[in-house]
Amino acid sequence: MLEITPSDASCGAILRGVNLNSTLADDTVASIRAAWLKHKVIAFPDQHLDDDGLERFTEVMGGFGHDPFFAPIEGRQNIAAILREADEDTPLFAENWHTDWSFLENPPAGTCLAARDIPPVGGDTLFADQVAAFAALPLERQDYLRGLTAIHSARAAYSPDGTYGEKDKGRSMAIRPDESALETRRHPLITQHPETGEEAIFSTFGYIVGIDGLPDEEAGPLLFELMAWQSKDEFVYRQKWQPGMVVLWDNRSVLHRATGGYEGHRRELHRTTIAAPAAI
Ligand code: SIN
Repeated sequence: MLEITPSDASCGAILRGVNLNSTLADDTVASIRAAWLKHKVIAFPDQHLDDDGLERFTEVMGGFGHDPFFAPIEGRQNIAAILREADEDTPLFAENWHTDWSFLENPPAGTCLAARDIPPVGGDTLFADQVAAFAALPLERQDYLRGLTAIHSARAAYSPDGTYGEKDKGRSMAIRPDESALETRRHPLITQHPETGEEAIFSTFGYIVGIDGLPDEEAGPLLFELMAWQSKDEFVYRQKWQPGMVVLWDNRSVLHRATGGYEGHRRELHRTTIAAPAAI
């Protein structure tokens, strides 16, 4: 029997009473999916999910999404390692708020992280509820934002000149920057969730590099101000990791970011993305 404990924050829940290493019955998958859509971020403690299990779970949740710019771990096509060695001094990976691969034509519906090596302190993952962030805006502001189309690109992070590009030395993660990061794609700034119908602010400054029809001098400050709103404390859920934990989130309704605070300790999570059943 599934036991779901919502967090005190705007999103996030702990789900117990399921063994993700086993073959899940259809009604169990449906219940996990319903909890995922409702709470947006689900943590499953004490799973110790191996790579076969992570692949099986990803398949039943919707199949693998496309993952650019990461080389998969050895022997797998769809699992990447989020890894930081104990003695590493590169800037933290994914410390800025983002939505995974929002610059793709079909961004992944979700992301799944399975704990491999969890430091004794720090390394929490933060999530910001973008349905709540949009709903809390004044109605006039909502109407204005609904009319905007965002221009997305991976260039700041994954182009050869980007944060994880040619200058980025000594990183243990298998990041593979390339010129395709310079491409741009357009998505509505405010999207309607294809499964719940809820409106959300989709992605944020960083992967959003402009607004269609707005000069950069207007788009930049708008996106910057919006990012501060999107990540206000009242929308944020902090996921503390435990050994053996699995965390699943909905990229269509939350932003996320990594945090540090575990200097001198190794941290490794295995990651898959979940394909979107419908375009955003
Ligand atoms: C990510 O953004 O995929 C990584 C999150 C984390 O390391 O906590």
